[in-house]
Amino acid sequence: MVTVVENIGLLWGIVPTLPTRLVGAEMRSLGELRNCWLSIEDDHISGWGEGTPPAADLHINAAGGTVIPAFCDSHTHIIFAGTREREFEDKIRGLSYEEIARRGGGILNSAARVQQATEQELYEASAERLSRMVADGTGSVEIKSGYGLTLDAEMKMLRVAARLSESSPATIRTTFLCAHALPVEYRGRADQFVDTVCREWIPAVAAEGLAEFVDLFCEEGFFNTTHAAQIMEAGAKHGLRSKIHANQLAFSGGVQAGVRGGALSVDHLESSGQAEIEALLGTSTMPTLLPSAAFFLRAPYPPARQMIESGLGVALATDYNPGTSPSGYMPLVLTLATVGMRMLPEEALAAATINGAYAMGLNDRGTISVGARADLTLLRPMESIAYLPYSFGENCIRGVILGGKTIV
Ligand code: NIG
Ligand code: FE
Repeated sequence: MVTVVENIGLLWGIVPTLPTRLVGAEMRSLGELRNCWLSIEDDHISGWGEGTPPAADLHINAAGGTVIPAFCDSHTHIIFAGTREREFEDKIRGLSYEEIARRGGGILNSAARVQQATEQELYEASAERLSRMVADGTGSVEIKSGYGLTLDAEMKMLRVAARLSESSPATIRTTFLCAHALPVEYRGRADQFVDTVCREWIPAVAAEGLAEFVDLFCEEGFFNTTHAAQIMEAGAKHGLRSKIHANQLAFSGGVQAGVRGGALSVDHLESSGQAEIEALLGTSTMPTLLPSAAFFLRAPYPPARQMIESGLGVALATDYNPGTSPSGYMPLVLTLATVGMRMLPEEALAAATINGAYAMGLNDRGTISVGARADLTLLRPMESIAYLPYSFGENCIRGVILGGKTIV
């Protein structure tokens, strides 16, 4: 089956051969073409060009609009029950995220609600969030557990992720966030908790094939770098690569721990500098930046500019969760990345597509290349791709094609 998207005003994200990721100046290297068509064979991109489009079974009219690779959101916590506007107000009144967490709010608040919710309730709430994300141009989504805090409730979350993967046109990658906060019954016994996680929880999750990755919150007051090493090792033993929440609130050593353990990504990095950049250079670990979480917590942004100038690639994701980033809207992340972190629009787009795909272990998508999976986001007509982060708050999305099929 051949599909042609015709009447494209601006096609952005072109590179003849699909790369695994883009680093440093390469993040500015994706090409564009004006007034053109794009052809799709079954579920992958087969070509593009100016002039008369080739014969096709199906024609999609882009009406002079813009076509880009669909967003790859490599860090989300979209499975949760209930929202946390009360804590939002507490933060406005001056409480810090850490203070709210110490009072039993934060992750523990969401955990209590996830433990009480049925699998069906969780599924319905998350399916609605996911379909909104797809309508907003996202084609691949990483989903974490982490609000269960008991093995049963974590498994319930992971089963919801499996159901979402079945029912949604988006590609889902699932992460067992096995050490997100210390369960109340383990207070003062973090080492023992991590021991249980490594000896019992990770093997149980892996045995049911419920996750591709493990993750932990490596942060002062939560879990330390020894815990990180133990969890990464236990994950690797069961075929799970790791992704780490590191340096969100303080310098935790989590970046270095992640690199040592061969993590696929280290995420957040609000507190990082030259030492973290040097630790990451020349490794396969992708720094993943979550500027909407920094924005929402009024925290400093991670040093994206310095990272890219040093030759690192970075990925961008939403961190969609009820506490620190209640939004799965990638265009806002692009605006925050450009305005807040001085990433150039094309760097931000590359971080939100090809580098996000890399951070999820997906190596067949994220650019306009022959053979790449045909996951495409159609946008309104624009003179340059910079219009997307520039026109913040405007919904520019006009359509979504996933695996060659029109979804929106
Ligand atoms: O990535 N920091 C850890 N996890 C989430 C926040 C979780 C929450 O507050 O519910 C994050 O920001
Ligand atoms: Fe997170």
